[in-house]
Amino acid sequence: MIQKTYDFDEPIDRLNTASVKWDEADRLFHAEGLLPMWVADMDFHAPDEVIDVLEKRAKHGIFGYTVRSEGYLSAVQGWMKARHGWSVQKDWICHSPGVVTALNLIVEGFTEPGDKVLIQPPVYPPFRKSVQNQGRELVNNPLVEHDGKYRMDFTDLEEKLSDPSVKLMILCSPHNPVGRVWSKDELLKVAELSLKYDVLVVSDEIHGDLIFEGNQHIPFARLSDEAAKHSIICTAPSKTFNIAGLQISNIIVPNPALRKRYLSQLNRFGLGEPNAFGAAAAEAAYRRGAAWLDQCLHYIKGNADYVADYLETHLPELSMVPLEGTYLGWIDCRKLGLDKFRLQDLMLQKAKIAFNQGFTFGKEGEGFVRINLACSRTLVAEAMKRLKAAVD
Ligand SMILES: Cc1ncc(COP(=O)(O)O)c(C=O)c1O
Repeated sequence: MIQKTYDFDEPIDRLNTASVKWDEADRLFHAEGLLPMWVADMDFHAPDEVIDVLEKRAKHGIFGYTVRSEGYLSAVQGWMKARHGWSVQKDWICHSPGVVTALNLIVEGFTEPGDKVLIQPPVYPPFRKSVQNQGRELVNNPLVEHDGKYRMDFTDLEEKLSDPSVKLMILCSPHNPVGRVWSKDELLKVAELSLKYDVLVVSDEIHGDLIFEGNQHIPFARLSDEAAKHSIICTAPSKTFNIAGLQISNIIVPNPALRKRYLSQLNRFGLGEPNAFGAAAAEAAYRRGAAWLDQCLHYIKGNADYVADYLETHLPELSMVPLEGTYLGWIDCRKLGLDKFRLQDLMLQKAKIAFNQGFTFGKEGEGFVRINLACSRTLVAEAMKRLKAAVD
């Protein structure tokens, strides 16, 4: 079969499509003419296989309540096996409209007032919010950066997990925003410590399909039967295939007791059924989207290399940490010597670029910005040009 080739350079106008990234940037960041390099969706069309299925679904014309069919569940199962070597049973696969929804449901349902939840900043801000929203106490185990590479501080992690009030740890695997794909040894250490201190691990693996050569994503529950019994794995086709607006994710819970609890939370809020378009798109993507994804990752890697090379050549005060996974680059601007407000001002008012500001990921992120690399090379080049002019 001849492989179809996708054109990721094709410019696509997203303005006036009710896009958060494009239509809301100026309003939210209080500046005009911003280049949107922030919120994590892609400026690429989803795979044709997904678009075709959605067109067919739309033409059917009846959009009643929808279940996740056997076909849907076997598509998720097939993807996890083929892509990650992970054998998932169909009944482990639970629904959630989004991973953030699931995180909130889990924190609320699996901890009591007075319990503590551990996160590893700098990290995706809704982790912190899901803990604060439910009135639980936050415990930080900051990542440590050395020579541009982030690692976990296991001594600090053990000390924090040994507190009997810490009941839950939210792991970001791969890690947004620092771009790490955790190694097997790192994950095994997390598993060992969480089991030793009986802390439930919620592993957010929404970026788990976005992995660059030389790295391998290992689902936390694949580490061992014990790790599987003590974890909840949050997965989704949304980042992978650029269908976040279709609101569908899969929360995989191998342990029947934990699953029962998760499902009761889901049903308590009436969230048990998927969106008809989301389910159709996810099934098609998992069955037939692999070739698109491989080409997309190749293109994004090209963008990451472009930024890294550009900074090294033209803006040596700035550098991007090596990207092992995700399409989110973490740019170190600390050598500019600006505090977080002045750095933000430089990016918004002078460079006219909407990055995610590093400090929003925790105080450990101060001096950094996060760039979304899932866009055309032309846009990346424009961002670099604007950045250089502003810094100069
Ligand atoms: C680590 C992580 N989790 C969850 C989400 C959002 O998930 P959802 O849209 O399914 O709520 C994102 C989006 O950027 C993310 O980076």
